[in-house]
Amino acid sequence: MTEKKIFIRSTGSYLPEKVLTNKMLKEMVDTTDEWIVSRTGIKERRIALENECTSDLGVKAALKALAGAKILIEEIDLIIVATLSPDYIFPSTACMIQKKLGATCPAFDVGAACSGMLFALSSAKSFIASGQYKNVLVVAAEKVSSFIDYTDRSTCVLFGDGAAAMIVSDKAGFKESLQVGEIVLGSDGQMHKSLEIPAGGSVLSARNSSTTTKDHFLKMDGKVVFKHAIQRMASSIKECLDQSDVSEQQIDYFIPHQANDRIIDALLKRFSIKIDRVHKTLESTGNTCAASIGICLDHYLDQKVKMDQNILLTTFGAGFTWGSMLLKRERQ
Ligand code: COA
Repeated sequence: MTEKKIFIRSTGSYLPEKVLTNKMLKEMVDTTDEWIVSRTGIKERRIALENECTSDLGVKAALKALAGAKILIEEIDLIIVATLSPDYIFPSTACMIQKKLGATCPAFDVGAACSGMLFALSSAKSFIASGQYKNVLVVAAEKVSSFIDYTDRSTCVLFGDGAAAMIVSDKAGFKESLQVGEIVLGSDGQMHKSLEIPAGGSVLSARNSSTTTKDHFLKMDGKVVFKHAIQRMASSIKECLDQSDVSEQQIDYFIPHQANDRIIDALLKRFSIKIDRVHKTLESTGNTCAASIGICLDHYLDQKVKMDQNILLTTFGAGFTWGSMLLKRERQ
């Protein structure tokens, strides 16, 4: 029996209008544009408004993806949302997005931090391959600025808000789509302390913590995360390519997690992927966590990607979690 083909019919993304530049951050913490650019490659990032929440960003990206696929919200069978900055601990941000879109289908969140988009896409792929659903809306949305301590220079320069969405379907749609290929996922809970928000869950609940300890904000051991991000993404890329018929040289578009230029450079040294095949948005978005690879894919997709070209996406996040995925532009 031939394997059922699964497609990404369309993509959409949204970035809030408010820009936070390195120069502005210099007024807030002891940092410089030179330090941030040389260590990360980031020049500015977007920050959502006070009254804009994660689901609002997700809805804006989702509406673009729905319009791109030319399908109605009534045709969506399932909504999966990836986020590390949810509207609430519960209910899920997926339920908030379902309500705002006027959908009635099942909806749930996946918790895989910055790798969430790939975990959500892999889930969508399986639901469609099993025949349970035909059209799945996958959203990755982050108002991570709500969880950033803007007096902590080691983290506040890195992150930005944004959202991405994709319509995953058993049909290619009215024009050529992206066929979903191999997806490789990984997790290692041993390393959870290196990147986490310590308070707000059952370990350190509202009863036993106070906002003055700043434990409700993101904490990170940058050096540990840096080292593991390179190792884990590199091994998942290798595994993903080994499981497919695609070689490193055949990668036309490489979209790595948009966290840090130096991590991307270190990855490139391990593979023969040409530098002009690497696509980045981090200079103007910062690290938008789960939304990062989706925003980047949406940014470059319609402009350039040609028939039969291969796209490789890879990501890494808290947990630790990581993964890689291959896409190919083709007709059904
Ligand atoms: N501006 C100026 N100086 C800063 C700074 C900032 N924004 N943040 C930290 N520093 C200082 C440190 O305090 C330290 O000073 P010291 O030597 O006097 O103690 C110095 O810069 C070096 O800090 P260090 O942590 O060694 O820098 P680094 O080379 O490891 O770079 C990161 C820091 C965060 C950029 C880097 O570790 C990194 O990118 N890690 C991965 C982060 C990431 O991608 N996370 C998300 C994954 S999903």
